[in-house]
Amino acid sequence: MTYDHIFLQHLQSLKAEGRYRIFADLERLVGEAPYALWHSPEGIKRVIVWCSNDYLGMSHHPDVIKAMTDAAERYGAGSGGTRNISGTAHSHVLLENEVANLHGKEKGLIFTSGYIANEATISALGQALPNCVVLSDEKNHASIIQGIRAARCERRVFRHNNLDDLRANLSSLDPKRPKIIAFISVYSMDGDIAPIENICDLADEYNAITYLDEVHAVGLYGPQGAGVAAQLGLQNRIDVIQANFAKAYGIIGGYITGSNSLVDYVRSTASGFIFTTSLPPAVVAAIHKSISILRNDNNLRTQLWQRVTLLKKLLEKSSIPYQSASSHIVPVIVGNAAECQRVTDILRQEYGIYVQPINYPTVPRGQERLRLTVTPNHTPQMIQELTDALEDIWNRLNLCLAA
Ligand SMILES: Cc1ncc(COP(=O)(O)O)c(C=O)c1O
Repeated sequence: MTYDHIFLQHLQSLKAEGRYRIFADLERLVGEAPYALWHSPEGIKRVIVWCSNDYLGMSHHPDVIKAMTDAAERYGAGSGGTRNISGTAHSHVLLENEVANLHGKEKGLIFTSGYIANEATISALGQALPNCVVLSDEKNHASIIQGIRAARCERRVFRHNNLDDLRANLSSLDPKRPKIIAFISVYSMDGDIAPIENICDLADEYNAITYLDEVHAVGLYGPQGAGVAAQLGLQNRIDVIQANFAKAYGIIGGYITGSNSLVDYVRSTASGFIFTTSLPPAVVAAIHKSISILRNDNNLRTQLWQRVTLLKKLLEKSSIPYQSASSHIVPVIVGNAAECQRVTDILRQEYGIYVQPINYPTVPRGQERLRLTVTPNHTPQMIQELTDALEDIWNRLNLCLAA
């Protein structure tokens, strides 16, 4: 192979910048959460996971696991095809009805991931609308950005959650051009929430389609866990609600909901939907069970919010600089890749606490952080131990404290 040196050079520069990704090799055992076994270079260690997106622990819920194993025994391990060629199981149809119903929309469509749902849908919409412009929040997820690129239409990036900048962009465009405003309800790295109502007002004023990613919100916010738009009573003002089954629902897969014609168009044309094998029915059964549990029971959500409140309170008490926002995500800013790595190394090696450092390009340089996520399985004592450990490390490394 004569090209390896090029790859090695790229890897060297990633390492030099302190942003070479090292995966934690974990075994998350059922019944043990939030503990997991970490296969470290020095052997197997038990750690507490503080950065999982399995926000409510649904991936280990006994009824969800049972739904998956029962369906695997009945329907097998795989779906047998793409949706168009023998790979539509009855469970896919039922799940699509469920998500449409959850969001009060005419139709739902499921994809193999949230990433693919965004990429496939936005690229299909952008290609359908002649001379379309996508107005995209600057903190949109990579999957939305990829969707816009694949649509090969104009992209206007507006400043994060900035209504004046969005308006300025909208007003500078030819009123006759089709427009899509693509944004997220809960921003995953900052934990802040979009001004959804104001964005809908602007969309009405400038006749734009609203496309909202609720990946980090479904299961957690709003009646029956239907998301932030539902919490604010705004579902009917959003044209496309996109989300996934991999965060609060604890499994995998993504979806969109919207009008019959829009969703049917995506179903009929989106490459990322058509040319890939569909989710296995056992996975779909587990997803369906998880959604039903969270539609009918507020208990886990209530426990989560109690833990989030306690974590924020104890961080404040220790003057650990976290980004205050109204969501469940708690970003602790370190501001430097090497220091961020150092903090997480000490947490793991000395305290048995696993938090993945978040570096560029996931966040801008200088905003490297720990992204803490607490779950109902984290006890108040664990929360206290985490904040004590952070306080100790902050003092030892002389890191900036909150003002
Ligand atoms: C805002 C947002 N949208 C979409 C995705 C992609 O979802 P998935 O992990 O299901 O591919 C993510 C993933 O982390 C995300 O944070």
